[in-house]
Amino acid sequence: MEPAPIEARGVHRALAGRPVLAGVDLVVPAGATVALMGPSGAGKTTLVRHLLGLQVPESGEVLLAGRPVKAMSDSELRRALRDVAAVVQGPGDGLMGSSSVRDNVLYVLEHTTGLSPRDRRREAQHWLRVLGLEGRAGALAQELSRGERKRAALARALAPGKPVLVLDDLEGGLDPVRTALVCDVVADHLREGRRTCLLTTHSTEVAQRLADRVAVLSGGRIAHEGPVGEVLALAAAPAPASVLAPVGPPPVAATPTGRPRLVLLLLVLLVVLALIAQQLLDQLGSGHRVLAPF
Ligand SMILES: Nc1ncnc2c1ncn2[C@@H]1O[C@H](COP(=O)(O)OP(=O)(O)O)[C@@H](O)[C@H]1O
Ligand SMILES: [Mg+2]
Repeated sequence: MEPAPIEARGVHRALAGRPVLAGVDLVVPAGATVALMGPSGAGKTTLVRHLLGLQVPESGEVLLAGRPVKAMSDSELRRALRDVAAVVQGPGDGLMGSSSVRDNVLYVLEHTTGLSPRDRRREAQHWLRVLGLEGRAGALAQELSRGERKRAALARALAPGKPVLVLDDLEGGLDPVRTALVCDVVADHLREGRRTCLLTTHSTEVAQRLADRVAVLSGGRIAHEGPVGEVLALAAAPAPASVLAPVGPPPVAATPTGRPRLVLLLLVLLVVLALIAQQLLDQLGSGHRVLAPF
């Protein structure tokens, strides 16, 4: 059987003393698209960084095309990653900030394909056009909005036509129209050439549109994994049964506590005292009115 292009086995990682990945097992089978979902802060980006060899697991292992990354030399890892194109969430989305959007795409084409300069320019123009960035080709990457940056990073990842894609936070920073556009472009790209893809998303629509399988990261582990329809049906269940419900205790109804409760008690006490005083004054027939303190 063909080895999985990407696999995590029992990956552990603590950050700032807190376990973020606590034994993650995940297989991205050849030719499949897996959507990694889970609440913000669940560790999706951290896991992606481990899968790309950008971070090393404290224990457990990552395998690329069936080979353990920890057994690879730097040059072997670089070679294994030649088949992989990635967009990883982070400041600048991995773009060269002081280069133009067009040069960012041209740079990757020059270093990862054997295309002639003319074909590289044609390819770059194609990807910038389909991702709605034609008018921003000359802008510096650092001048882009978050959504433009995301699309520029996607253009750079898709242009070389690599067989394995890792797309972190796919719709992050994109409005619904651009999200739909990006989904169309990625879907077309995945269809041609039987590509393998791991994407992370918060959107069930994106997962439904692009993925075959969904894995839900929660509590540092893959809490659910299976065919997209099956896992999303669980996600549609009312909270807290929903597999995509935020981690942590459910919100409690607002009740006055601490200081507000004390103020309320004092007010009630004042009103009672005022009423008693008024009754006493009435009984004394002084004719004075005691005003309630509010
Ligand atoms: N460099 C870091 N140092 C300390 N904590 C980090 C670091 N990077 C991420 N974290 C923490 O790890 C957790 C997972 O983050 P992340 O992988 O970005 O989650 P997700 O992508 O699912 O939103 C978060 O609580 C985040 O604050
Ligand atoms: Mg993230």
